[in-house]
Amino acid sequence: MTHRIVTLPGDGIGPEIMAPTLDLLRELGDFEFEEHLFGGASIDAHGTALTDDVLVACRGADAVLLAAVGGPRWDTTDPSRPRPEQGLLGLRKGLGLYANLRPVKPLPALYEASPLRRERIEGTDLLVVRELTGGIYFGEKTRTATSASDVCSYTTAEIERIARTAFGAARSKVTSVDKANVLETSRLWREVVSELHSREFPHVALEHVLVDNAAMQLVSSPRHFDVILTENMFGDILSDEAAMLTGSIGMLPSASLGDGSPPGEDSTGPSGPGLFEPVHGSAPDIAGQGIANPLAMFLSAAMMLRHGLALETEAATVESAVQRALDGGLRTADLGGEASTAQAAKAVLDNIE
Ligand code: IPM
Ligand code: MG
Repeated sequence: MTHRIVTLPGDGIGPEIMAPTLDLLRELGDFEFEEHLFGGASIDAHGTALTDDVLVACRGADAVLLAAVGGPRWDTTDPSRPRPEQGLLGLRKGLGLYANLRPVKPLPALYEASPLRRERIEGTDLLVVRELTGGIYFGEKTRTATSASDVCSYTTAEIERIARTAFGAARSKVTSVDKANVLETSRLWREVVSELHSREFPHVALEHVLVDNAAMQLVSSPRHFDVILTENMFGDILSDEAAMLTGSIGMLPSASLGDGSPPGEDSTGPSGPGLFEPVHGSAPDIAGQGIANPLAMFLSAAMMLRHGLALETEAATVESAVQRALDGGLRTADLGGEASTAQAAKAVLDNIE
């Protein structure tokens, strides 16, 4: 069976990390790749970060693989000018991808690459479940010469569905992160999560932690966490913080899923592709030099294989190849080494079994 993948290399280091990822996937199965302009590259060509045609192409694919968007060339604070990030937000919203999964599991080979002490990060294995299509990212925005506002709103339905994802993914515990001592949305969040918990998931432990405290615990005792369930903006911030446990943000993959089911699993349910992308950005400072770390992109492709295409064996193959390459000494510049993108890609390919 051929899997139809829409690829969106985007900007900066995006194309440099996408190319070796497709080589890697070709080793593992039968894929048909359809590349489209996205982000800044699409703004240059069409004046908008996400065209209707590309959104339609994504909707029709089995999965969407995205590298990174943005760069100083398109940076602006003028609300009337297009921004590359609007493409990303438009795609998440347009595909209904409300559940963003960001696993954080530092590999023993990289314990020394983290700025945190080994004994703090050892044994960390957590999953950030970030709500992705609501909250302050998508509320009404206003701007005058002297004031600006961004509305943060959530409905019970939005909270319930992401909480269900988190409880479903938990092995032992869900830590729901909010700011219920200040925000009304957080008080609703807390109520809805607690109700769903007692109704459907009483066997999973649940705790509520305020976001400032959660930020502290993430670096003081990361082993404490299993699943972190949180709203859009808190999840954005906490996942970058959590990335440093793995040594580099160049290591962190993500999957964004909606209510679509992977092919072959539940053919009666609604279908829709997931979006798979590294957590890091387009790194314009190192773009074009061939030194970007492609591992988060490879691991995002592994998440696509697992969550998007129901190819668990192939996903595990990629993950163990990455692990063996690192065990064998592979280090790109962000991990304190000198390997180029091409050398990193070769090291992983050589470890495919
Ligand atoms: C992320 C990114 C995006 C976000 C930006 C690029 C809009 O930081 O995926 O974490 O804030 O969601
Ligand atoms: Mg972010």
